Parts: sequence; structure tokens; C-alpha cells
Amino acid sequence: MESTTTSDIEIMLSSQSKINEVDFENLTFGTVFTDHMLVCDFKNGEWQKPVIQPYQPFTLDPSTKVFHYGQAIFEGMKAYKDEQGDVWMFRANENFNRFNKSAIRLAMPEVPEEVFMGGLRKLLHIEKDWVRYGMGRSLYIRPYMIATGEGVIAQPSSEYKFVIILSPAKSYYNQEVKVVIANHYSRAANGGIGAAKAAGNYAGQFYPTKLAVEKGFQQIIWTDDATHTKLEEAGTMNVFFRINNTLITAPTSERILDGVTRKSLIDLAKREGIDVEVRSLLVDELLNAAKNGTLKEIFGAGTAAVINPIVGFAYEDLYFDLPKIENSMAMELKDKLNKIQYKLAEDTFGWTEKI
Ligand code: COI
Repeated sequence: MESTTTSDIEIMLSSQSKINEVDFENLTFGTVFTDHMLVCDFKNGEWQKPVIQPYQPFTLDPSTKVFHYGQAIFEGMKAYKDEQGDVWMFRANENFNRFNKSAIRLAMPEVPEEVFMGGLRKLLHIEKDWVRYGMGRSLYIRPYMIATGEGVIAQPSSEYKFVIILSPAKSYYNQEVKVVIANHYSRAANGGIGAAKAAGNYAGQFYPTKLAVEKGFQQIIWTDDATHTKLEEAGTMNVFFRINNTLITAPTSERILDGVTRKSLIDLAKREGIDVEVRSLLVDELLNAAKNGTLKEIFGAGTAAVINPIVGFAYEDLYFDLPKIENSMAMELKDKLNKIQYKLAEDTFGWTEKI
């Protein structure tokens, strides 16, 4: 292992890479990780020196707080390679800011920009060969923070671990997505942690989603917890509905994640002259639109999922298939977004940053 120290980051390089063992053509999302990771500990009230080290397991005491109280947050981001072989991050600053908002909500320390962004740039530089060129290919970036203080007393930890791991990715869903509209379970409530990217938000969805999967669906579209009448977001994606030629997506709120792909699509759609309404779509409106044929498309949008057409949905005893359409808005917007991410079109928004 080769070890160097720059003033701000310690770098310990692995003596051997596993990149040649990876089948980049057949990747299951989130299962293969690169050779290195970034780790930075928070102790005695301050962040310690970040270390880039070989990807390896942690040893944690069984009483470590994250195991008991779920004090854990994460982000999902991607890096892309352009035709010339340069690596680009997409709106990384948005994820950094959202991460620290999540940290505040979960009573965790904010991560300094030089650790999160500076560490990420360095890590991506080291792992640039893991970013492959080609439409749909990317390096998924998973920054996260866990409470590492010991003891089962139910209070915020005094120690934390901030980590970034990287995973080469193709698509998140490799089949058509059908959803169930929630009429009983909820993902989030006002005053809760729905707007934070907290680990527990995902764990809480697993059981209702498992019930949906058993019935042949892949995800749930969550509705507001109080009335179950407003459509909000899906398990791993924000959701867009196209009624006639208008795109409708729920406003962000205390219950809804402020998705980076969501906000990029709103900007792109507006630039393309598409009529966009950021408002709560009611379940009744959706059912009427499905019955009278004005519902043209539903699609999910997220970093991992990119843009995923939803081909059918169930609500109570009703089921609707969505007809396949040529030139869908989902595919048009995905193409425009991808072209910016892979540097195949001019980035007039200033969303991309070269590593
Ligand atoms: C992402 O899109 O990056 C997410 O965080 C969703 C994740 C649960 C796969």
C-alpha cells in the first residue's frame, strides 16, 4: 500500500485493483464498488483529517448508536465520462447542500465543503478508470454519514463517520415499472423527516413495498399521510404526471425530497416550452384522467433511476395500463438531460463540473 499525505487529505492507495475482474456489461445496481473509499471521522467536536483508503469493512461495537436509533443519512449522485475521456459531476453542489440539511434534521454535524466536495473530487480523480463512457453508464456516488458513538442511551451521538463509496452503474430498473398508489401506509408526515435523505425513510417503505411486489408491482406512489388524496413521490424517485400536454409534479414540502433530477427536469421542460405545473395532483384527478384518456404518461425521476416510465398503476381495486406512446415527454427529457450529463450538448445551465 502506497501512502501519501497532502495537507488536507491522507491518501493510501491499494496495491492492486479489482477493475479487471468487473463485468461492466452486466452490472446489477449498487453491487460492485471501486478500489477506494473516503472516510472522515467526527470526534471531540471536530472533523478529523479525511482519508482515502482501500475499500474495506468497518469494525463497530455492537452498541454503536446507528444500529439502535438509525441516525444515518445519505446522498445519491453520479459522475459521467465524456467522449474525450474527461469525468464530470452533475450538480454535485445540490447534493452537498441537501446532505447538510439532512444532517441538521437528524442532529448530526454538518460536513465541511472541503471534506465532502474536496474529498469527492480527489476520490473521483483516483477512480476515473471506473467511470465508463457510453449512454446509460455512470459511476454512482454514495456519500453517507452514520452515528458511531457507543452506548444505547437514546440521544444524538458525539461521534460520526462520513464515508463516500463509488459504484459503477448502468440502469436501476431493468424491467417495466408498475406502481400501487398508497391508500393506507405513508412514507412521511408533516414535521417528520420526509424531506431529509435519512436511511429510515427507506426502511419504512420496505414492508408496504414488499406487499406491492408480491402483487406484481415494483414501487408505491406515496400520498399525503393526512388524507391520502394527494400524489407525492415514489420509493426511489420523484414522480411526474402528463395530462394532455401538461407535466405535473408535486411541490417539495416537509414530506417530499427535493430531488436534483426532479428540479433539473422542471427547468429543462420549461426551456423546451413544455407547460409545467408544480402542484399536488389529486388521486381523483388522476383516476378521471386515466378514465377519460387525458392521462398520457407517468414517470419517475431520480439519480439512480434517471427517468423511468411507469407503465401501469393500481389504486384500491382499480388497475390502469398506460398506453405506450411515440415521442414521450419522458424519453425526450431523458435524452436532453443525458446529453448535458455526457457533454453531448451545451450545458447552458452550468450544471456540470469537470474533475
Ligand atoms: C438515488 O436516486 O440516488 C437514491 O437515493 C435512491 C436510492 C434509494 C437508490
